[in-house]
Amino acid sequence: MWKLGFIGGGRMAEAIIKGLLASGKISAEEMAVSTPSFSRREYLEHTYGVRAFFDNPNLVRESAVVVLAVKPQVAPQVLEEIREAMLEKVPLLISIVAGLSLARLEKHLGVSRLVRVMPNTPALVLSGVSALGGGQGAGEEDLALAEKIFSALGEVLQVPENLFDAVTGLSGSGPAYVFAFIEALVDGGVKEGLPREVAEKLAVGTVLGAARLMKETGDNPYALKAMVTSPGGTTMAGLKALADRAFHGAVMEAVSAATRRARELSGA
Ligand SMILES: NC(=O)c1ccc[n+]([C@@H]2O[C@H](COP(=O)([O-])OP(=O)(O)OC[C@H]3O[C@@H](n4cnc5c(N)ncnc54)[C@H](OP(=O)(O)O)[C@@H]3O)[C@@H](O)[C@H]2O)c1
Repeated sequence: MWKLGFIGGGRMAEAIIKGLLASGKISAEEMAVSTPSFSRREYLEHTYGVRAFFDNPNLVRESAVVVLAVKPQVAPQVLEEIREAMLEKVPLLISIVAGLSLARLEKHLGVSRLVRVMPNTPALVLSGVSALGGGQGAGEEDLALAEKIFSALGEVLQVPENLFDAVTGLSGSGPAYVFAFIEALVDGGVKEGLPREVAEKLAVGTVLGAARLMKETGDNPYALKAMVTSPGGTTMAGLKALADRAFHGAVMEAVSAATRRARELSGA
């Protein structure tokens, strides 16, 4: 029997397979994928050595843990298809489908041994941060196993499921806010005469380095900001320009707007 089966062999499933193989936590023979496209199956089998076929109920019957990694639009049809196999065997099901609540999963499947995970796009380069929340029938061991699987993609935090829309607004959509910020940094540099390639390298290096400095020192952003801001200096002039244009409030509102939209889309 395979230990870990993926329904949907897209970008996220591939990232998890890649991360798990790199971590040595599981071997390729212990993983299988069910996905419709023949070329995708060939690619996954050839690149990672996992078994790939297209039979979702059979994948459920053969797996101890199932990862549901299809697009939200496809999920209702897939849940209907695997319901019987889920009821027969009750494997642990981990869903990464955005906006699909544990309550809806439970209603569709008739089981509650469920874990919901919300990863983000940096998971594709194994630098993600994922929120993880368990259903009523998920035990401590199930949560620990899910955490072990998703730690192959980066950091994992346990978050109560009622906060998942806020997670979507912050870390789910957050990479796009950061890209918007990087784009603005680059344009600012180009406006002041830097060649675009140089500005891009400086901007990415700055964001990556600042995030790493915060993580490694454990300091809060206020203290770290103070470290680079000498009285009457250049950084204070820059920060004043951000404050004048309500940067802080704009970012806060971005998180709230995305959270509201996630709530609307998940039908809560
Ligand atoms: N990408 C992210 O950063 C991210 C972050 C958080 C959450 N998520 C969630 O993760 C899920 C997967 O995202 P993704 O980016 O990996 O999407 P994706 O690349 O489009 O992958 C979805 C996969 O599902 C397959 N599929 C379609 N119909 C199927 C069926 N009936 N049975 C089994 N497989 C089927 C697709 O195959 P075909 O291509 O042949 O149609 C495709 O390989 C989504 O629900 C998304 O909301 C993604």
